[in-house]
Amino acid sequence: MKETRAQWGSKLGFILAAAGSAVGLGNIWKFPGKAFEGGGGAFLLMYLLIVPLVGMPAMLAELTVGRASQSNVVDAFGKLGHKRFAWVGWVGWLAAFIITGYYSHVGGWVLRYVAAYATESGSVYADPLAYFYRMLGYDAAAETTFFPWVALVFAAVFLIICAVVIIRGVEDGIEQFNKVGMPALFVILIILLVRSVTLPGAQEGVKYMLTLDLSKVNGQTFLIALSQAFYSLSLGMSIMVTYGSYLPKEENMPRNTLLVCVMDTLVAVVAGFVIVPSVFATLGAEGVGKGGGFAFVSLAGVFQQMAGGTIFGLMFYLLLLFAALTSTVSLIEGIVAFLIERFHWKRTPTTIGLCVVLFLMGCVYTCSQAAYPIHGIWFDFANGLSFPLFCDAMEFLTDRVLIPLSALGTCIFVGWAWTPKTAVEEITRCGVKFRLVRTFSFLIRFVVPAAVIVIFAVSLFTGTTLS
Ligand code: PFF
Repeated sequence: MKETRAQWGSKLGFILAAAGSAVGLGNIWKFPGKAFEGGGGAFLLMYLLIVPLVGMPAMLAELTVGRASQSNVVDAFGKLGHKRFAWVGWVGWLAAFIITGYYSHVGGWVLRYVAAYATESGSVYADPLAYFYRMLGYDAAAETTFFPWVALVFAAVFLIICAVVIIRGVEDGIEQFNKVGMPALFVILIILLVRSVTLPGAQEGVKYMLTLDLSKVNGQTFLIALSQAFYSLSLGMSIMVTYGSYLPKEENMPRNTLLVCVMDTLVAVVAGFVIVPSVFATLGAEGVGKGGGFAFVSLAGVFQQMAGGTIFGLMFYLLLLFAALTSTVSLIEGIVAFLIERFHWKRTPTTIGLCVVLFLMGCVYTCSQAAYPIHGIWFDFANGLSFPLFCDAMEFLTDRVLIPLSALGTCIFVGWAWTPKTAVEEITRCGVKFRLVRTFSFLIRFVVPAAVIVIFAVSLFTGTTLS
């Protein structure tokens, strides 16, 4: 007898879980840095256009494929009668697998910073950069490297938390977890927003985020905004197909898509308005760093100079932790769902085994940050803490190749093979109203594929840097 598929226990459960997946390190750690780099207001405008025109139809398409097929991402296309699209599922699954390896370790760093702000914020403030290096196994003063056990222990704890949530299953684990985590995240973010924009000197940052400098609108910033949107909305990585497969037939998918996209974008934009102005206020425009340094190093200077900064610091990292946990849980769920369905493995041992593998994969990432044990090969001390070649290659492979490829495959599938008509039939089952049928068909057939092709073209022809 066929086992009945798991389903979301309530409407809110799905929305929170999907929003929990979308809202992650990408929104709070990556987005503000990219918005700054991409010219503030100009980037914001592009991003706000890309989400409804590209992100929303792509998300609706993924959810629809999931719900119609009632299947994990790899088998979904075959179940809908188009076996030749199975590669799309594999590509998305592979992207999720690679991303989870490093994402879970960055989650571990966040956990480390929660502990740091709770117990020894003084050490962070004393020398934020040295503190960050030390976590990763590099003693900046002595210029020596050592085994980054702190980062690894925290990554292991982070993955154990994720595994527990996933083992408890869709309804008990992911849903319950998100019901608490997501609202908490919003509350903390709003408190931080109020604190940040009222800092003396923060106005410059607010102005920067609101000024539209059209000279900053170009292929490069468009590319950054576009790939950020895919990443941020958890598209092209099997997640929304898997989550869609747990949706009951009477669920209104267009409305859910709208809600999830709005929440994700809101968090990203608010995080931008938390971080950019506060960094302007305390460190000036020069202080706005990027990537890891941005969330872990530059912000220490901000919290140090704020009244009650340690408390705000603690809240900020707790927020980042919630965000990272819900996203990692979704990534692992997408991988696990496939493994248990395809190989009939049991949920618990599969999750544990997978988390061990992911931990080991991530060890390469964390260890290579401080060049341990391959000192001097992947790492250039002369130029500071640069991202190792390995990680660059992995990020390039996922963000610029696998994710766009899988997203392209999905929209070509829905737009041309399965056809928007069939998709709309699935969307409007049980009397769900969908007014934007023609708009959806047009976007999914032409606009989304064109946008994805731009990612490939710009990446290939301009030799763009990863950021
Ligand atoms: N959307 C998440 C973020 O913005 O951090 C990252 C992510 C989670 C990407 C889940 C992909 C995914 F499947």
